[in-house]
Amino acid sequence: MVEVKERLENGIDVLSISNSHLTVEVTNFGCTLLKIVTKDKNNQDCDCILGFEHVEDYQKRDGTYLNALVGRVCNRIEKGTFTINGTEYHVPINNGPNSLHGGIEGFSYKVFDYTLIEDGVKFHYVSKDGEEGYPGTLDFYAIYWLDESSLHIQYSGVSDKDTLINITNHGYFNLNGYASNIDDHTLRILASKFGCVDPDGLYTGELKDVKETAFDFNTEKRIGDFIHSEDEQLIIARGYDHPYVFDTKENQVCLYSPLSGIELKVSTTYPTAQIYSANYLDGQTDKYGKIMHPQDGICIETSYIADSIHKEENPKVLLKAGQVFEEETTYTFEVRK
Ligand code: BGC
Repeated sequence: MVEVKERLENGIDVLSISNSHLTVEVTNFGCTLLKIVTKDKNNQDCDCILGFEHVEDYQKRDGTYLNALVGRVCNRIEKGTFTINGTEYHVPINNGPNSLHGGIEGFSYKVFDYTLIEDGVKFHYVSKDGEEGYPGTLDFYAIYWLDESSLHIQYSGVSDKDTLINITNHGYFNLNGYASNIDDHTLRILASKFGCVDPDGLYTGELKDVKETAFDFNTEKRIGDFIHSEDEQLIIARGYDHPYVFDTKENQVCLYSPLSGIELKVSTTYPTAQIYSANYLDGQTDKYGKIMHPQDGICIETSYIADSIHKEENPKVLLKAGQVFEEETTYTFEVRK
């Protein structure tokens, strides 16, 4: 069932998508996920994503990008500068010396048009040529839809000029059902390489082997056994905040909470994910009255690699005029048998 649950001011609505496995609430403000409810091992409702109490709280631009769609380009662009076809472009510097998550007024803060479809919602936004410094008018769609125990998020877009695009969802998962430390969650990531970051969080371009480091989650491991290691990269970032380059083309990430028995499997067409252990949550109150602390959630930001325009020989983030950008990430929530 798909319905408009609430109409707020300024064209901002809350939509609800549900089937017998999942209830997802999402707002057209930044295509932000508000709730993902499924049953835990005791058949009790469990909301697998952190969230604020009111939709207005998401409008405060507190820098968390809590559960928002992020664009036009997620993660950092070094010094907010890049060149396409000989023209230099400047995008807002909003994170140390770099541009983060699409700039000051990125997609996370836009009110999207939408249509209800059979099992979900189709969001639409036209980003004008030059918006936040990015070239080309970009006609962009994001479809959120349910299929049994899976939430699919499908992105597509076309630009009339060569441009950059890298869209992610910045969901803060916590499979215990409320803000609480994620040490006891287990994680599996099918990736033999991760990217190093500098003290500003910018991917340096250096890929390292995860083998024999605190970054190796190729077999399932308890996060708390590694996140507190004396690893220089973990210290710099205050936890995990690093790109992982996937070795497989599906089922790349699995997160599990022994407490609720729920596991989240993430499968994506994207080649990487920024794994971010919510290191900068800092005392915000969540929708259930709990205080959100650092490492009370985990983001699995599927995307092209951070700062692709400067760090890849053939940057995947480049979208040619008239070409179709299309990527999809599927989040499957099930009780582990
Ligand atoms: C970034 C973090 C940042 C967070 C919230 C993540 O994607 O990698 O460094 O603090 O988003 O803005």
